[in-house]
Order: sequence, then C-alpha cells, then structure tokens
Amino acid sequence: MSAAPAAAPAAAPDQQQPTFRGVFGFIGGAVANAVSTTFIVLVVAAFVAQHVLDAKKTIMDAKTHSPEVVLARMLARFEAGSVIPRFEKYHVSRPDAVAMLQGVLRPSLLKDYTVVIGEVGCGKTTAVHDAIRANSTGIVYHIVKSEVLVSMPGLLARSLAFEPNQFTFTEGYLKDRGVELDEVTSAAEPFKSWVLLSLILRDVAQQFKTKHGHPATLVIDAVDEIAQQGPALLHAIQDFAKAAADEQLLNVVLVTCDGSNLPELKASSAMTRARIAEVSDITDEQAVDFLLHRGVNEDAAKRAVAEIAGGRFVLLNRLTKQLGRGQQVNQIFEEFREDTADSLQRLIDDLALYNATSAVHKSLCDLTHGALHIDIVHRALGKDLTKKLLATHINILAYHPNDTYTLHSRHVQRSVAALLNCTRP
Ligand SMILES: Nc1ncnc2c1ncn2[C@@H]1O[C@H](COP(=O)(O)OP(=O)(O)OP(=O)(O)O)[C@@H](O)[C@H]1O
Ligand SMILES: [Mg+2]
Repeated sequence: MSAAPAAAPAAAPDQQQPTFRGVFGFIGGAVANAVSTTFIVLVVAAFVAQHVLDAKKTIMDAKTHSPEVVLARMLARFEAGSVIPRFEKYHVSRPDAVAMLQGVLRPSLLKDYTVVIGEVGCGKTTAVHDAIRANSTGIVYHIVKSEVLVSMPGLLARSLAFEPNQFTFTEGYLKDRGVELDEVTSAAEPFKSWVLLSLILRDVAQQFKTKHGHPATLVIDAVDEIAQQGPALLHAIQDFAKAAADEQLLNVVLVTCDGSNLPELKASSAMTRARIAEVSDITDEQAVDFLLHRGVNEDAAKRAVAEIAGGRFVLLNRLTKQLGRGQQVNQIFEEFREDTADSLQRLIDDLALYNATSAVHKSLCDLTHGALHIDIVHRALGKDLTKKLLATHINILAYHPNDTYTLHSRHVQRSVAALLNCTRP
C-alpha cells in the first residue's frame, strides 16, 4: 500500500499571504499605536482628573466638615421643620387634642419640657402629626422605632440633619462646653453619641433662638421604646430636656404610651420640670361614626363601641377587621375577657387576688365605674400590685396625669366587673 501523500508542510507564518500580512500589519500597527497613545492619554487624563477631584474633595471636605456648615444644615432643618405625610384613610378630626398639642409644640413661655402620654394606640402619633402638619416651621419630629438602643442617637441625628462623621469634636470645642475629652471617649455607646449630639443640639438651639427670638421644638415620639431597653438613656434625654427648659433654649416634647412609671417618675428630679399632657380616646359617638365609615353596620358599631372599644383607635381598627370577617360582637368580647382573665390569673398566683381583701375587691369594682385618685388606689391595692396592674403587658390599669387611675379600656371594665362579680353601684 502506497503511503498516502504526506500533507504539504504548513507554510511558516511569515511566508503566508505576504500582501495580507503587510496590509494587516500596517493596520494593526496603526491601531496599536492609536490604542497605546489613547491609553497614555487616558491614564494621564485620569491622573490629572483624580488630582483635580482630590483637590476639590479636600476643599469640599473642608467645607462640609467645617463646624459652621454642619451647624447651618441643622439650623436649616429646624427652620424648614419636619415634613409630615398626609393622612391617607378616613380621618377623625380631633380639634381639642390638636389644639392642646399645638400649645405644647409652641409654648408662649418655655417653662418646662412636656411628656405626652396616652394609652397604646389611642392616636398620639396621629394627633401629634396633625398638630405639626399645618405649620412645621421650627419643629423637628423624630420617632423611635424598635431599633437597638445603640442606634438611637444616630437615627435622631439623621432626623436633625446632623452627620456626626462630618464633624470633628476637638478638645477645645468640648472644653468650651465644660466637657473633658476623655469623659466622652471613655463613655460607652449609646451615651457617647448622645452626649456629642446633645452638645451640637444646644449650639443649634441657641442659634435658632438668637435668630428667631423664640426656642425651636424637638419632638421625640415613642420614647417607651427606649425605656423598654433600660431607663438610663431616657433619663439622660430627660435631663437634657430639663436643662434646655431651664435655660429656655429648646422645647423638648417626649411622647410615650407607657404611663406605668409616671407616678414614680414625677417624683424624680428630671420629672419636676415635666409638664404632662394627655391624649385620650375619642368619644363613643366619634367611634361609632368611625366604624360606620369603615363599613360596619350601625347596630354592630354601637354595640362594639359600648361593650369593647370605647374610643380607642387600636381596638376600633381590630374590630373593623374582625367584624368584617363576620365575627359577632359577643364572640369578640369573649376573646378579650379571656385575655383579661389570664392577666388577672397571673397576678392571682402571686397575690391571691380573688381571695383579696375586701379593700382590693372593692376598689377594683369601684374602678369599673370610673376614675379613682391614685392615693385611694395605692392605699387599697398597695404600690406593688398597682404597678403590676399598670404594666403594659398586663393592661388592667391606666394612669392619668390628673393623678387618677381608670381601668385600661372599655372591655377591661366589663371583664373585671364580670370576673369579680361586681354589682352595679
Ligand atoms: N384621627 C384619626 N382618624 C382616623 N384614624 C386614626 C386617627 N388617629 C389614629 N388613627 C389610627 O389609629 C391607629 C393608632 O394611631 P396612632 O399610631 O396615632 O396611635 P398611638 O397612640 O401613637 O399608638 P402607639 O401607642 O402604638 O404609639 C392607627 O392605625 C391610626 O391610623
Ligand atoms: Mg405612636
């Protein structure tokens, strides 16, 4: 078998199609030249640009980091005021509560700071928003969410348009304000951030007052979220609020749903300057109207308000949903009654409540008919039991700033009356 002819050896690359190579070599060279020139130009341009940007950034940094610019931005935030979103759903108008809060937000004479209290879901946040929305000039509003405590001062700073990392707290700055540098550096968070923020806040408050002739207002809503994680930061904020009121520098308004500590807090030094304002429930008539606007039929609306919700928004919202699903008022009340019975049961285990002295029994029954002065309740129930009944997870008693207690809500009144067999007066 003759061997197949060997394939022609591949031509050496430089022997291939010389014309083509020449043309492509030329083009390739030209392209390579152009690319490398462009590359060099680009590198030089980037280098120059970077330099220019760096120089510009240094100038910008110097500008944004200068104390004057940082303070001016915060001052502008106070002057413009916080933007409050519009209320979307059917809105119950509460002119009295809103007028009261407007007085709190713009006091004619700043003598004290204010703690606004009201039961969970009674409409505090909404009423405060209503009071600010019409004219927010001079008012910064901040709401504490369920953030971890260490983030609180940083988030408040954001609401105040203060960027802590853009401000250098020099030793001199701190000394001028009576604070030693190591006092600050050795403090743990969130106190370190809070102290620095509070110093800046004082400066801006002073500028605002000098410029406008009256103090600005800072509202911190839902401070109960802070208190839940330990009272120390809230106390520091209260001390600041008290000092600011003493010096007529800044009107601080704290909003809380946790009245359970107020009788004691009132006795503490920072509370002596606190004025307590209460947002209460809407009237039964308004509540029925609210349910009618939410599509509940008139009969169910009247019974639901009279027997369960009264004028408590959070309950009215829940009822709207449950009635909308076809549940009956009786059925829903039964769920509430069981919750109250459980809460009481937990206390009974500690305190043998059902075997309670007739004094305990009598005052709880008296409370099913209306408010009692705190002294009467403390005497009958003892401070320990009173405190337990006030706790937000128990929700049997509610404290009011006119130094009275009531039962927590309409359904609790009815449940306690049923559980303790209270007779009508
Ligand atoms: N004036 C109003 N008209 C209609 N709905 C309202 C009104 N006020 C409050 N609500 C509704 O009731 C619910 C509770 O209101 P809001 O959050 O203002 O109460 P709150 O007292 O601030 O509650 P919390 O104790 O949880 O902070 C919300 O769903 C809100 O939309
Ligand atoms: Mg609220």
